[in-house]
Amino acid sequence: MTAVKAPSPWVKTHYSNIVAGGRVLDLACGSGRHTCFLQEKGYQLTAIDKDITALQEVDLPNVNLLQADLEEEPWPFEGKLFEGIIVVNYLWRPLFSNLVESLIPGGVLIYDTFCLGNEAYGRPKNPDFLLRPRELKTAFSELTCLEFSEGLIENPRPAVRQSIVARKS
Ligand SMILES: C[S@@+](CC[C@H](N)C(=O)[O-])C[C@H]1O[C@@H](n2cnc3c(N)ncnc32)[C@H](O)[C@@H]1O
Repeated sequence: MTAVKAPSPWVKTHYSNIVAGGRVLDLACGSGRHTCFLQEKGYQLTAIDKDITALQEVDLPNVNLLQADLEEEPWPFEGKLFEGIIVVNYLWRPLFSNLVESLIPGGVLIYDTFCLGNEAYGRPKNPDFLLRPRELKTAFSELTCLEFSEGLIENPRPAVRQSIVARKS
């Protein structure tokens, strides 16, 4: 079994804004580091990615694990609501409105990914996959911003990132 990687520091710091025991969607979950972290914290996880092979190797009997191409297929959570949505190191702007719609009132979005300026430090370098200045604040302006951060971070490696925690009213 592969060792599970550490969660993003942003998620680790802010996850407790999501109501205890709530339903959480880990979008583009990858190897499932946030799925595992949040399940251990007592949340009910739904994890989705176009490639779930890594996560299938982890023993997570209570996780609702879905495979889908989020950029080619219709939004798979129409009519479903979550107390929390986590998006880390993934950017597909057409889904922004789906994320807002899929939060229950009081639900919390935790978004943490690379932004312009990161190309000096490593991948991603393609501007399509890099947030513009304050883009998360603008894109999710109908949510109440609880925390926002933008700029160079040193850990786990130097990168230029933008991150938000925002609550649906
Ligand atoms: C850099 S990884 C981040 C994984 C995870 N969120 C984390 O922080 O560890 C990006 C993930 O997005 C997924 N992904 C990319 N394009 C996708 C798509 N069209 N539909 C679903 N998942 C996609 C990849 O398979 C990959 O697991």
